[in-house]
Amino acid sequence: MTQHLADRPQPASGPGRSQDQAHDWWRDAVIYQVYPRSFADGNGDGMGDLAGVRARLPHLADLGVDAVWLSPFYASPQADAGYDVADYRAIDPMFGDLHDADALIRDAHRLGLRVIVDLVPNHSSDRHEWFQRALREGPGSPLRDRYHFRPGTGERGDAPPNDWESIFGGPAWTRVADPDGTPGEWYLHLFAPEQPDFNWDNQAVRDEFRSLLRFWLDMGVDGFRIDVAHGLVKAAGLPDMGHPGQLKLLGTQVLPFFDQDGVHEIYRSWRQILDEYPGQRIGVAEAWTPNAGRTALYVRPDELHQAFNFHYLNTPWDALALREVIDSSLDSMRPVGAPTTWVLSNHDVVRHRTRLGGSLARARAATLLMLALPGSAYVYQGEELGLPEVEDLPDDARQDPAFLRRGAHEDGSGDGQEGLRDGCRVPIPWTPDGSSYGFGDGGSWLPQPAGWGGLSVAEQTGDPASTLELYRAALAVRHAHPALGAGADVEWLEAPAGVLAFRRRAADGTAFVCAVNTGEAAADVSALLATGKALLVSGTGPDTATDTVTGTDALSAGILPADTTVWWQE
Ligand code: GLC
Repeated sequence: MTQHLADRPQPASGPGRSQDQAHDWWRDAVIYQVYPRSFADGNGDGMGDLAGVRARLPHLADLGVDAVWLSPFYASPQADAGYDVADYRAIDPMFGDLHDADALIRDAHRLGLRVIVDLVPNHSSDRHEWFQRALREGPGSPLRDRYHFRPGTGERGDAPPNDWESIFGGPAWTRVADPDGTPGEWYLHLFAPEQPDFNWDNQAVRDEFRSLLRFWLDMGVDGFRIDVAHGLVKAAGLPDMGHPGQLKLLGTQVLPFFDQDGVHEIYRSWRQILDEYPGQRIGVAEAWTPNAGRTALYVRPDELHQAFNFHYLNTPWDALALREVIDSSLDSMRPVGAPTTWVLSNHDVVRHRTRLGGSLARARAATLLMLALPGSAYVYQGEELGLPEVEDLPDDARQDPAFLRRGAHEDGSGDGQEGLRDGCRVPIPWTPDGSSYGFGDGGSWLPQPAGWGGLSVAEQTGDPASTLELYRAALAVRHAHPALGAGADVEWLEAPAGVLAFRRRAADGTAFVCAVNTGEAAADVSALLATGKALLVSGTGPDTATDTVTGTDALSAGILPADTTVWWQE
């Protein structure tokens, strides 16, 4: 156990945990997602790496986040940017080695940051030793049972076993050659053909992942983000979907290969392992489910700790819609006693500044709303700089397999997942100029737009109007304020049309109010914010009230500008 964890309370294990809720770090943690390819490049080869992340950890400590989640850095042919793992116990040489991972975890702990790693249990790489052996050994090999191999349909077996579609476009099945070279069985891949799905009915698969959890827990990690957590178990007999059509990566359809009840037994067994370790090690589900109630099942007291709230991420910038999704998110987690989580951006979606309409003011307002809500919040690297989506990447620079598979349907239709995930993965700027704006000394694997340096960490540091300083200030207030974080529930307040307003009252009576103007015009909130003072205002630029970060004079006229959020001390 690392030093900084030693003086923290031990995890309350199992269903009795509610007794110790005040000490559960993950109930209100702000977790920062590092996308290792694009965070910082330590060796100047144009690709981010673990040494780069390690060197830049102080930025995260200064920002005030509680934990870092690292997207996959395992040995991988990179058919899906590392979400195709060939060896779960090795670091890909382009990111470093196990010594770098160990040093990174130790440094993070010294800085008071917890470390969450990405675990990819739905599929491996087609280069994984098991899959390669399965191919070599041919039909009937026990290794084939660790994946989903099936004979084809049709007279010559040249049609796929069922009608499932890949999330990245085209059929979810690929035919392989038998060891003698003749056309053979088909295997299932819900994602790219280089990502064969594991068969979770096979005991060896279950045993392997329990062992992997221990491997990384022994390395000192504080938790796992579980990739495609809803996909592991498929409906018995692999029945047809019945309504072929392109699937969405963050979709909510009811499907025979997602959100099957059998997944929960797996997470119960993982929870037992997590609870064996000191320091509250956690599991976070990336689960796309039809509704928040189904998501809550993943975080029952004997399963995982958190699940991403994609329903929130998908909500438009509209007071009523936001209120509805906030209510339903909180309501669905209450019965299971798990914290609600909030997220606006990640490596799979258009950055929220661009997605919500393009204005930096609106992005900042959305962030202050998210950070005012009860529970845990996720911040994706670069959003603290207000980075927009890079929308004009040249096609030949793009690496997203969904982009490369556009039109993979036989009839030429279908754009898997729109194929545009590279635009949120462009390496982030650290300095106003220099090679790749401080990302590294050797260029950057995706081209950075001109002017990127103006948004850099160095450029924004110390500028009270900057987005970076807004995030720093917000995280500091969030940590210090007794009504923020996990604490008090949300009490909705009457507000003008387009304005969302709620109060959170701490146990000691301190009252905090958050008001958000999602409308197109400034709103009169003088009745709402009659007494007290502004703690923080999201605004930026001439369209906003006054002093943007300290906000002490802001709103003195009781006017909340459009696309602005205020944090208020009553
Ligand atoms: C998850 C990841 C995404 C990846 C997919 C397949 O959704 O977030 O980036 O492509 O799983 O592993």
